[in-house]
Amino acid sequence: MYLPLFQRMGEVTCRMTIVQQNVMPHAALAPMAGVADTAFRTLCCEMGAVMCTSEMISAKGLCYNSKGSAELCRITEAERPMGLQLFGNEPDFIAKAVTMLQEYAPDWIDLNMGCPVPKVVNTGAGSALLKTPELAAECVRAAVRASSVPVTVKMRIGWGNGENCAVSFAQAMEDAGAAAVTVHGRTKSQLYAGHADWDAIRQVREAVQIPVIGNGDVQNADDCEHMYRETGAALVMVGRAAYGNPWIFREIACLREGVSYSPPTAEERMEMMLRHIRMIVDNSAKPPALAIREARKHASWYMAGCRYAASFRNRCFQLTSYEEAQRLAEDYLVMQSRTET
Ligand SMILES: Cc1cc2nc3c(=O)[nH]c(=O)nc-3n(C[C@H](O)[C@H](O)[C@H](O)COP(=O)(O)O)c2cc1C
Repeated sequence: MYLPLFQRMGEVTCRMTIVQQNVMPHAALAPMAGVADTAFRTLCCEMGAVMCTSEMISAKGLCYNSKGSAELCRITEAERPMGLQLFGNEPDFIAKAVTMLQEYAPDWIDLNMGCPVPKVVNTGAGSALLKTPELAAECVRAAVRASSVPVTVKMRIGWGNGENCAVSFAQAMEDAGAAAVTVHGRTKSQLYAGHADWDAIRQVREAVQIPVIGNGDVQNADDCEHMYRETGAALVMVGRAAYGNPWIFREIACLREGVSYSPPTAEERMEMMLRHIRMIVDNSAKPPALAIREARKHASWYMAGCRYAASFRNRCFQLTSYEEAQRLAEDYLVMQSRTET
């Protein structure tokens, strides 16, 4: 076991260090709005994700007492160490929101400077902050002043196609007091397409003293290993590859520790899927018939790569109850056992 630990160095400067106890760092779960909720985070942590971050929370929404924003702030012990992520571009709102977040006792607070969604960038927040590094630095300074825990930044490498401001931007965040930066190696314009530029992550790692967390396009344990090697990142962060596959964190841990990894059996996949659906329904403030809708996409991801995946996925998107999910899992197992024999 090893612990991500935030060390306070002096009055103002925080540094995040990954303290290794005989083993190498494994991987963290990426923040993913609408996907990496408390149920998903809990399962990924159980499977070995070493830390996780909340879905992004609107600083302004929190300040105006939006119920939805407050719900995103809850942290359970099973998810720790966990950060709460804010988006916004107004230092006063950021400072107030950071103060409000303290009651949820996050292990750190992350500022989103990578979201490419129009609703966010059109307000000047998310990845739009890459174009206004001075304002971004002011947001970090405001957050650091208001926070009793370290403040980190998650960024992309630039705005337009081919643009790369990653080094100067990360340096500005470090100077403003960020304790670590996560670098998603894509520009805003790329959204989630094309390749993540791992060399840009390496350049940031060489240019700053704070820990750099590398992110983008890690699909499996081999990729994770390559990212560590090619970027020198302190930690690798995995997002979409964990869809329907929380075992990826176990796979990464096994490879890093030199232990052989056995992928989950069909039974284990269905057990995990049902547990995941149960957790989504139980954690939701909505009635089960509505909460199950949130679970549909997750259910479909557990079907990826199997025989007759398309027809099983169709059934996932029609689920209206947990009992239906149980029947789906039974049918899945029957079908997979028939195709094996
Ligand atoms: C559905 C979805 C939601 C996301 N939501 C957030 C978010 O709330 N905050 C954030 O910083 N990044 C968010 N991201 C970006 C991921 O954290 C990550 O940077 C990106 O997916 C690249 O990593 P990957 O190639 O491992 O998926 C989101 C990505 C996806 C696909």
